Parts: sequence; C-alpha cells; structure tokens
Amino acid sequence: MHETVLRKKIVLGVTGSIAAYKSAELIRRMKELGADVRVVMTKAACQFITPLTLQTLSGQPVAIELLDADQESAMGHIKLARWADWIVIAPASANTIARLAHGRADDLLSSLCLASESPLAVAPAMNNKMWANEATQANLDTLMRRGVYVLGPASGDQACGEQGEGRLLEPMAIIVQLAQLMMPLKLQGKKVVISAGPTYEPIDPVRFIGNRSSGKMGFAVAKAAKEAGANVVLIAGPVHLTTPQGVERINVETAAQMHEQVMASVASADIFIASAAVADFRPLSVADNKIKKTQTDNLQLELVPTIDIVSDVAKLERVPFIVGFAAETDHVADYAKTKLHTKKLDMIAANQVGEGLGFAVDNNALDVFWSQGSQTLPLANKTQLARDLMTLIIERFYAKNSTQST
Ligand code: C5P
Repeated sequence: MHETVLRKKIVLGVTGSIAAYKSAELIRRMKELGADVRVVMTKAACQFITPLTLQTLSGQPVAIELLDADQESAMGHIKLARWADWIVIAPASANTIARLAHGRADDLLSSLCLASESPLAVAPAMNNKMWANEATQANLDTLMRRGVYVLGPASGDQACGEQGEGRLLEPMAIIVQLAQLMMPLKLQGKKVVISAGPTYEPIDPVRFIGNRSSGKMGFAVAKAAKEAGANVVLIAGPVHLTTPQGVERINVETAAQMHEQVMASVASADIFIASAAVADFRPLSVADNKIKKTQTDNLQLELVPTIDIVSDVAKLERVPFIVGFAAETDHVADYAKTKLHTKKLDMIAANQVGEGLGFAVDNNALDVFWSQGSQTLPLANKTQLARDLMTLIIERFYAKNSTQST
C-alpha cells in the first residue's frame, strides 16, 4: 500500500474493550501510511491499555477528560473536532455505539463526535451476544442511516471464550477499508442534479393528487454524490427531510415546477439522477375555490399527462449521464429494461414497491440495469444502498465518457 494513502488528520477513539491492545498496532500502521493521529480514550479504555503506550506510539498527548483545563487548553474538544479530517473509533464498544446513537455528550469522545462534521467510522468489538442483541443492531442502524461507516466486525474466537461475530477486525483489515473510504473524491468538479420525492398536483386550493414517495432514496443519493465530491443540486418535491450537508436544495411542488427547475439546472450537469416519483397525470384545471360536497353527487376530474422530465433531459443537445428509477409492483425487471430504452436512459435502478417495500421505508434493494449489464444491490439501509448505487453510477459514467472520447 502506498505510504501516503492515509495522509489525513485522524482522531482515533479507543473505547473499553479487550481489543484495545490492537489500537497500538493500528496507530503504527496509520502513521506508516501518512496519517497524523491524535488519540482520544474513554476512561474504560484506560483499564485495558495505558495512555502512555498510545501517547508514545502516536507521538502526541492522549486526550481523555472533557473538563480538564490542561487538556482543553492544549486542544479542546471543539478544536479537536474541527482539526479531524476523519474520526475512527476502534475498538468501538457496545456502550459507545449506544451513546453515539443517542447523541450523548458526557465524555470527551462522545462530545467530539457530536461536535464534528467530519466522517466517522466505527469498528465494533464486543461479545457475540451483545453484538446480536436487537438494541445494538438498532443503534448501528441509526448510525448507518446518519452516514456513519461501520467496519466489521469479524467473527471467530472471542476473549470471553465464546465463538461468534463481534471480534474487532485486524488492524490491517481496518486500514484497507479506511484507505478505500478515503480515496480521492471521484466526482470532484462534476455537477450532479437529482430529482427526489413526490409531486403534488393541485385539484383546488386545499386538495391535490400525490403519491407515497418519501424522498428518502433521493436524499440518500444526494448525500452519497456529495461524499464523492460532486456539486449537488437536489430538486425536491414536498418532503419532510433534512438537506444533506453541502447540497443545494430547490423545493418544488408540482411536476411542472420540477420540470422547470430540472431543465434550468441540468444544462451544465454531468449526471442527472431522476429519483422523483413524478405524478403522471394532473387535473386539467385547478378550481379557484374549494370544491364543495354539495356542488355535485359524483365529482369528475379530467386528468391530463404531465411532462416526462427525464425524457426531456434525454433530448437535450448536451445530454448528461442519465439515471432513472423504476418503482413497480410487478414485472420489475421487464418494465425497467423497457424504460431504459424508451426513455433513453444510461442506467435504471428498479425496485419493487408495495407492502413494506420501496416507498417510505428505510431499507431497500435495487436491480440496476444498463445497456450491457446489470447488478443487484441487496437489501440494505438507504444510506448504504445509495453509496453502492453511486459507486456503480461513477463506474458507468467514466466508462461511457472513455468510450466517447476514444
Ligand atoms: O414512466 P415512469 O414514471 O415509471 O418512469 C420513472 C422514471 O421517470 C423515474 O426516473 C422518474 O423520476 C422519471 N419521470 C420523470 N418525469 C415524469 C415521470 C417520470 O422524470 N413525468
């Protein structure tokens, strides 16, 4: 491995686990690969390995206390939070994982994580029953949904004499995964436009035709594109979701507004990802006043098609790499492949929607198709799935550009 692959400022959090001795090796490896490492230990960690050992290996004072005047004046927790390019917690105990999931700030390491905007990776280490416990799994789910990277654990012999999943990954395995995560930003300088969420098509001033799209997948894709270094414009229908950090968001309500905003943004884009569940029809006319029950027995609404945004983007002179979505209740693959051709897409991500699947849920699976191939991205939380999808998009985007320029 190249000696500068980890050339980053890394805060290494060490928590109370028998595996804490492995952090000594981890620090050495990180430093060999160019990292500047500052160690933060929990009090429990100090029962397993001495701060002096980790101080000697990192070449820097080890921070433990939140309210220690000396430590705070050297590099306080807020300064440390700003300093770090990455925070890596290895080993991460069940207790630390639970405290992170709940946003606790009652010691230095947890306060630091809460105060930092840098990416966070945790390498869990615990007894296999603690690992399998629903509470631990729910806490990890929460962290992953927030974008925390989970490295491992491995399985095998455990210090408690049992066998199973929960062992800390070996230091080199942690290093390999970190090196991958810290790779150069593959979409730096590229513009990615993403449509997300449902559209609402008004019937009268208080009613509309909408759908069950939560926008979660599109927002997760926007976050993944940002993580890859892109300039991201997210054109969002009416959803209650927080804008991922660093992403430019434009709120719209109707298909017509979404069309207008997409067309305005996409002209200079490299990639367009159409994850919005755009209404296919809208009422021909919108009543000026609320329609009264007493006005009529049966209400007839005349619906007309909306503009197909993604197809319009495909007709542009300078066409970006286009990714569509196909949410279907049946014959998912067939419909998706047809759409790939009729809408002139470069790629389509298909998923089954219905009871507990697809819309408004946190987990999802996707079948992704392009003209020469396909790949299944298995069931995962939408944050992870979006990262996997982004990896695939980046691969195909560069493959297409290289064939076009040769
Ligand atoms: O034809 P269908 O609506 O199933 O196609 C879904 C794909 O087309 C999605 O990528 C969706 O965002 C996009 N679409 C669009 N404008 C529409 C309808 C769908 O961009 N009016």
